[in-house]
Amino acid sequence: MTAPLHVAIIMDGNGRWAKARMLPRIAGHRRGVEAVRKIVRAAGDLNIGTLTLYAFSSENWRRPAEEVTDLMGLLRRFIQDDIDELVGEGVRLAVIGDYRALAPDLVAMIDDAIGRTRHNHGPQLVIALNYGAQAEIAATARRLAADAAAGSIDPDAIDQATFERAMPSGGLPPVDLLIRTSGEQRLSNFLLWQAAYAELLFVDTLWPDFGPEALAEAVAAFGKRQRRFGGL
Ligand code: FPP
Repeated sequence: MTAPLHVAIIMDGNGRWAKARMLPRIAGHRRGVEAVRKIVRAAGDLNIGTLTLYAFSSENWRRPAEEVTDLMGLLRRFIQDDIDELVGEGVRLAVIGDYRALAPDLVAMIDDAIGRTRHNHGPQLVIALNYGAQAEIAATARRLAADAAAGSIDPDAIDQATFERAMPSGGLPPVDLLIRTSGEQRLSNFLLWQAAYAELLFVDTLWPDFGPEALAEAVAAFGKRQRRFGGL
């Protein structure tokens, strides 16, 4: 079976996982990070070339300040604790989204982690942080418009390939399989450009319970889909 090249996941349901156990939401996010650890390894085993995880959307700032702080703390710890292991496993880390708006120490840690994994040749782990697809598309249009106004680009020459190259996330391959956990069936502003022909898979499992077996099942379900890309 051919494994999907690029799997993107909307990791949803941490809060409900915690609520069902009468635990604070942070407990669900903590278990969510455990799930991330396992899924990154499983993705490598399944020959998934790129795994993109939606860790923090540009809309997540609307959550209570305490929860935002907790999520940033978990991210900090993930990068501190896991990066050496990921370097050793050949994983290449990338980040999409406006992560430079995060706390300066976190930005430095992320840049350092990206730098340390730059020459790896294993699977690519992409973390979407302070990411919103619409904002990225608008920012790209703004930049191209400015270039056109300055005369450095011919507006007629702007096609899909030019646009994609100008997008900060433009280096990502198209999404083959997009998974959302927890039963919600929405894209929530995730990879709108790259997911144009993605196969969508919505599973009821809450993110903390989504393990390597669930990922293998998702890949198997993907293998049975007929992809036509608009053709017959
Ligand atoms: C959705 O659950 C999850 C998030 C908004 C955050 C996802 C973050 C993590 C799994 C941890 C940090 C990630 C990394 C890569 C270290 P929710 O809170 O919306 O759940 P609910 O819908 O049940 O309330």
